[in-house]
Amino acid sequence: MNQNAGTVVLKEVGKSFQGKMACSDINLSIREGEFFTFLGPSGCGKTTLLRLIAGFIKPDKGKIFLNQKDITHLEPENRNVGMVFQNYALFPFLNVYENIAYGLKIQKHPQTKIKTKVVQVIDMIGLNGFEKRNVSSLSGGEQQRVALARSLVVEPKVLLLDEPLSNLDARLRDKMRFEIKSLQKELGITTLFVTHDQTEALTMSDRVAVFNQGQCVQVGTAEEIYANPKNAFVAGFIGDTNLFEVKIKNKTAIISEDLTLLLDNQNQGKYISIRPQDITITKTDENSSRSLEGRIEEVIFNGIWMDYLVKVKGSDFRVSVTNTFLHSPKLQVNDSVYLSIDSRCIKVID
Ligand SMILES: Nc1ncnc2c1ncn2[C@@H]1O[C@H](COP(=O)(O)OP(=O)(O)OP(=O)(O)O)[C@@H](O)[C@H]1O
Ligand SMILES: [Mg+2]
Repeated sequence: MNQNAGTVVLKEVGKSFQGKMACSDINLSIREGEFFTFLGPSGCGKTTLLRLIAGFIKPDKGKIFLNQKDITHLEPENRNVGMVFQNYALFPFLNVYENIAYGLKIQKHPQTKIKTKVVQVIDMIGLNGFEKRNVSSLSGGEQQRVALARSLVVEPKVLLLDEPLSNLDARLRDKMRFEIKSLQKELGITTLFVTHDQTEALTMSDRVAVFNQGQCVQVGTAEEIYANPKNAFVAGFIGDTNLFEVKIKNKTAIISEDLTLLLDNQNQGKYISIRPQDITITKTDENSSRSLEGRIEEVIFNGIWMDYLVKVKGSDFRVSVTNTFLHSPKLQVNDSVYLSIDSRCIKVID
């Protein structure tokens, strides 16, 4: 299938419903062929943004461009944008073939062309033999494929995917994550992917935009956002972290009167974030002046990780240690332990 991927630009886009802001002041520039993810908690405006880009609703403010062309007021069918909805929204009275052919029929293509294209996309998505099945008799994963095929068959320049994996069980979700990603790569189609699942965002995306309460808080690659979260919300939303409200004085973060941590630079901010895997936990004090003495309150076995919840002078630290066969540190609840943290791993944030 020949796809010409598109660029999508949002300029100061805002939308309210009954006076309540759903998204505001959104400025984004999505590159050709990019896998771009909107990540954020429920109700932060992700679906609203996709519907604005697809044209099902119009913004109160701002402009939307597809390949430099202003599409803000174009009808959905004239935009060249395909959308897979949060609940798939398949037509329950049509079979698999008819569901997939629907968009081409609306565009009034000749029957022979419709057939060729539908067969091609059914093959691509691995649904051969399902053509006559009623969509309500399909499993969640199969419905998801039909929804994907239905939007791909019209060869959109941009593909919008609204939490397409959220209704699937964990194993199927992993499999479809991989399949969607490789299909996207193969087609080179610009894809906007919505999720509230940080693992999906981190593993699939070229870039991620993190949203909170209708606003875009940070945009970057998964690594950039994970390593340098812009504020406490992002730090807490992407990956587990130890977040402390602090006062900073003379390169020292003061968590409480008797609990302070040395920083490696003069940064100012309201919080510090320390990833659980950046803390070393030992039974004996190996770092003397720099270690924090605490007691284990909880031990959580996670397969790959052991998580220890450690109380240090009234504050809680989560420490993650790789659970290798030869080197797991046999620690138990109530053990007295020492934590050491390299000052470079302490991120100061707003
Ligand atoms: N048609 C509508 N009428 C009134 N309010 C709406 C409408 N659509 C969305 N909203 C409100 O706008 C806000 C953002 O909704 P949206 O569906 O974009 O969130 P979301 O990020 O997709 O959430 P979720 O992860 O739960 O799907 C919510 O407070 C929602 O109630
Ligand atoms: Mg939504």
